[in-house]
Amino acid sequence: MNTNTELRTRSRECFARAQQSLVEGVNSPSRGAAVYSPGPVVLERGRGSHVWDVDANEYVDFMMSFGALIHGHAHPKIVDVVSKAVNEGSHFAAATPAEAEAAEKFRRMVPSAEMVRFTNTGSEATMLALRLARAHTGRLKLLKFEGHYHGWYDPYCLNGHSHPVEQLGPPENPTKIPDSEGIPASVFDDVIVAPWNDLAALEQILRKHGRELAAVITEPIMANMGCIPPAEGYLQAVCDLAHQYGALFILDEVVTGFRYAPGGCQQLFNLRPDLSTFGKALGAGFPIGAVAGPRAILERMRWSEHMVLHYGTFNGHRLTMNVVAANLDLLSGAGVHRNLFAIGDAAIAGLRDVFRRRGLKAVVQGFGPMFQIYFTEKDAIRHYRDYCAHVDTKKYSRFVHHLLDAGIYMTPSNGLHWIISTAHREQDVEALLSATDQACAQLS
Ligand SMILES: Cc1ncc(COP(=O)(O)O)c(C=O)c1O
Repeated sequence: MNTNTELRTRSRECFARAQQSLVEGVNSPSRGAAVYSPGPVVLERGRGSHVWDVDANEYVDFMMSFGALIHGHAHPKIVDVVSKAVNEGSHFAAATPAEAEAAEKFRRMVPSAEMVRFTNTGSEATMLALRLARAHTGRLKLLKFEGHYHGWYDPYCLNGHSHPVEQLGPPENPTKIPDSEGIPASVFDDVIVAPWNDLAALEQILRKHGRELAAVITEPIMANMGCIPPAEGYLQAVCDLAHQYGALFILDEVVTGFRYAPGGCQQLFNLRPDLSTFGKALGAGFPIGAVAGPRAILERMRWSEHMVLHYGTFNGHRLTMNVVAANLDLLSGAGVHRNLFAIGDAAIAGLRDVFRRRGLKAVVQGFGPMFQIYFTEKDAIRHYRDYCAHVDTKKYSRFVHHLLDAGIYMTPSNGLHWIISTAHREQDVEALLSATDQACAQLS
């Protein structure tokens, strides 16, 4: 594994400096030496689908800020909106027309959004959704699926990392494995864990715990173990089962929202979640989150003795609300999602072809604007346990380090996914395929 150090002397210097003041030299472990070897490629600027590092090396960016940059870097319309908004005052923590406009556009796009509440991150949105669900149902417990990530709020921080399968316990009663120190064990007493894409196990678990559940939360496409689509009809069945036991169905669209369709996966798969959560692509590179749902549930935040509390100095941040409105206009344009799918599907087909020609056993999984590559002997990765048992994540990391040296920017973490933005063009796909061809030669 080698991120070419000769190409990146300034990256090395910047990283050494950052480590004096920042833990691991970064602000999130997924950006530092736990993932990149011998340390991160330190980025300086971006435009469209390209980024440049501090040594002036140019890359095609397929990570796109973990999916936040739906229009790539420095989109001219977003730059205009931000320049104007910042000159007028970035934020007032007071009522503004900008937040109403952003909310109206949001509601027009997201089928289940009778009302919306903006937060600053996806983690805040999922925190709020759980609090609303508990208040609405008068129940405490939450069901989450193995391998799903919903942010770093205490009750979501278990069974989110990959572990040897022997540690996972039986599918109908998975062992609870905390993702973090510092969380009281009692928090997990109120969390039930289930395997995903496995209806039989879910039914069994619900027979035992269903009546205590405030909510079942799921990602529509599992994005925390790469990219694992749901089995046909699975999400609707989960929704129906949750309702059968009186629990709310929360669809976490932080990754998929505004990406797979204007109205996210709920539109794509024709689902009607009780609550859904958003982030990432909604802000086109600015920090944002949102909870959407029916008035009857969101109105529980209305001021009263029995309200669900949700405060925040930066909620409805004026500058970001302007960005959201402009972003949603851009995403409503004719053919936007069709183009995202066309570029993504071309990349997926091209990668499959390169691996086949090179005789390298790999699965390229996903569709349209998001996908992942798994080095595996299996023909598909269908759930978390497949990922833990059958994916060669070390090989993937070596592969991506070769790509980095060939001018493709991507995280070497197999748990993330390749992202297509509206800024990607056919020549970006060609660059990826040619770099992949070289990387295959180096891998074998
Ligand atoms: C499905 C899902 N939900 C919630 C979150 C948390 O969002 P944020 O990182 O904005 O807090 C993430 C982040 O990756 C996510 O993938």
